Amino acid sequence: MTRKILVTSALPYANGSIHLGHLVEYIQTDIWVRFQKMRGHECFYCCADDTHGTPIMLRAEKEGVTPEQLIDRVWHEHKRDFDGFHVDFDNYYSTNTPETRHYADTIYTRLKDAGLIEVRAIEQFYDPEKQMFLPDRFIKGECPKCHAKDQYGDNCEACGATYQPTELIDPYSAVSGAKPVRKTSDHYFFKLSDPRCADFLKDWIVPPQVQAEAGNKLGEWLSGGLSDWDISRDAPYFGFEIPGAPGKYYYVWLDAPIGYMGSFRNLCDRKGLNFDDYWAPDSQAEVYHFIGKDILYFHALFWPAELHHAGFRTPSGVFCHGFLTVNGSKMSKSRGTFITAESYLKHLNPE
Ligand code: 2FM
Ligand code: ZN
Repeated sequence: MTRKILVTSALPYANGSIHLGHLVEYIQTDIWVRFQKMRGHECFYCCADDTHGTPIMLRAEKEGVTPEQLIDRVWHEHKRDFDGFHVDFDNYYSTNTPETRHYADTIYTRLKDAGLIEVRAIEQFYDPEKQMFLPDRFIKGECPKCHAKDQYGDNCEACGATYQPTELIDPYSAVSGAKPVRKTSDHYFFKLSDPRCADFLKDWIVPPQVQAEAGNKLGEWLSGGLSDWDISRDAPYFGFEIPGAPGKYYYVWLDAPIGYMGSFRNLCDRKGLNFDDYWAPDSQAEVYHFIGKDILYFHALFWPAELHHAGFRTPSGVFCHGFLTVNGSKMSKSRGTFITAESYLKHLNPE
């Protein structure tokens, strides 16, 4: 029997270079896809750049270009690196596309109709100079535990403590240096705390959807009780504006996995394939995501819950790998063990 198989790797952010850590994933996915194709199955490998969010917006501003110009340049760099390593995507696309917007709006609207979206006011740090809310990584200050200076908003690199940005001593904005103020605004939440989500997920987070070890970790999160997920960000933000919510944008992690659908939809339109064969709830096709363990939470909790409640099929499997280490440690620029795809290709044969 010829199987229909759609395969993805995690979408790399459009503000950094492809490095050997990334390639652990793309190469294993590529091998798996080539194997399925050689067996005679219909198999498509889709990926894209993950283009939205505050870091990309600020990076473009710093470089004096528009976010669109930045993501276009980086897309070409990423494509060059993947081609250099012979990673053979059937489609390498972008999340900043009409297809991804279409499925993001479809999923959001269906979740809303199902009563799974709630609006709540939350208070956050706001940069009065730059006139923007600050994500945790753009707030710095003194660690409340060990008093190390210039630590990030959510954890201390000196002592390892984790905390809320509001606990930092003398916080300042890493964007402008201004002292942040607290400000309230409405945010949109996906109601993961709704019993329908836990009921669905407890049966879903088992083999073959996830390997047993990943299922154990997911079970811990589930039994701790799922919190609602904040899926909106306030302007200024580079992303898709939420329909019916002026000035509110989907948080980048909402539209990132939807980029898998966007990339596949673009392939379907180019090749005359039927999108619904792969994504309808009763689809006989298989969908597999290759990811790193740092993003298991998004792919094996939020993503299947969203898909299920928005009337799409859920993944057949999420294959989760660990991190590449050099001498047992994370690749590091300061230790000189950080190797980009581009620099590897200058010196070595990728095969
Ligand atoms: O962690 C990351 O690098 C994200 N850009 C991965 C996104 S995967 C998918 F959800 F789009
Ligand atoms: Zn500390």
